[in-house]
Amino acid sequence: METSTRFLHAIEMGVGAWAWGDRIIWNYGGSYADKEVRGAFDLSLEKGIRLIDTAEVYGRGRSERLIGEFLKDTEVPVLLATKFMPFPWRLLKSSLLRALRHSLERLDVESVDLYQIHFPMPPISIETWMNELATAVKEGLTRTVGVSNYNQSQMLQAYSALARHEIPLASNQVEYHLLDRRIEKSGLLARCHELDIRLIAYSPLAMGLLTGKYSVDSPPPGTRGRRYSRILPNLPPLLKIMTQIGQDQGGKTNAQIALNWLICKKTMPIPGAKNAKQAEQNAGALGWRLTDDQVAALDEASEEFTKE
Ligand SMILES: NC(=O)c1ccc[n+]([C@@H]2O[C@H](COP(=O)([O-])OP(=O)(O)OC[C@H]3O[C@@H](n4cnc5c(N)ncnc54)[C@H](OP(=O)(O)O)[C@@H]3O)[C@@H](O)[C@H]2O)c1
Repeated sequence: METSTRFLHAIEMGVGAWAWGDRIIWNYGGSYADKEVRGAFDLSLEKGIRLIDTAEVYGRGRSERLIGEFLKDTEVPVLLATKFMPFPWRLLKSSLLRALRHSLERLDVESVDLYQIHFPMPPISIETWMNELATAVKEGLTRTVGVSNYNQSQMLQAYSALARHEIPLASNQVEYHLLDRRIEKSGLLARCHELDIRLIAYSPLAMGLLTGKYSVDSPPPGTRGRRYSRILPNLPPLLKIMTQIGQDQGGKTNAQIALNWLICKKTMPIPGAKNAKQAEQNAGALGWRLTDDQVAALDEASEEFTKE
């Protein structure tokens, strides 16, 4: 059985596919559709991105289905990460393997590279889901397994439960970006590094805010605008420092600075991209590094956004 998680540590950045099919938050089918999403997929591969993060719930399966279609037209080997949602009405442990098989059907593959529990949701215990993940590995349906939105004690429970099967916990996918550094303060990030658990940073651009294109006068549309209404007025000083650092780095954009900062923190960002242009810009976060002084300046400028 191949249970090494080394390959995940070698991947510096992936692409997130939540917006590929999601109407409610991202307005798929309105401001962009299949053609644009296809452009994001193609450009990401062209620029060397080799991991796609999706979930059974994204676009109610549409994200996985689109990826399955796109994969048919490429020879490029792509690593696939998807997720199981432990809805409270999923009371049978067998629902995990059934859901995984449905994901595999939509993706049109025989196995994925990373299968994650989307949230630590009751009533089924963490141990029960970990036992099922172990079965998924043993049956060859996924190469490695991970969790998402788990705090430190939940993650340690998952880690120990999998260890009883001699299977490593490959990753914990959580929100992490310049405007939300709770995982640094709580010790979760340090614990991941200590245990060799890959920290996958979701919403690495704070759902678009860190690109600098949104402001108080021009907030992001829909629920995002409401979610970030209190942060937007405080954003300009941080964006100014990001822009200055971008210039010092030879013309990097704010998005590239935000993503490179996450790579410097030894995490794997998975920025969402709705089209080729966004994917191309995000891929430009690879192949160079912020200096230690620049990381420190960004740490200082972003400090106020994360209250313990
Ligand atoms: N495990 C979880 O619970 C969880 C939760 C959230 C996300 N995730 C994962 O993390 C991935 C990324 O997170 P996210 O999609 O929430 O947020 P994000 O990556 O921080 O932001 C993505 C959005 O920002 C805008 N954008 C991206 N690149 C841009 C660029 N270069 N220039 C200008 N605008 C750009 C686009 O939206 P607009 O053009 O509309 O602004 C895009 O949809 C998801 O796709 C998903 O795979 C996981």
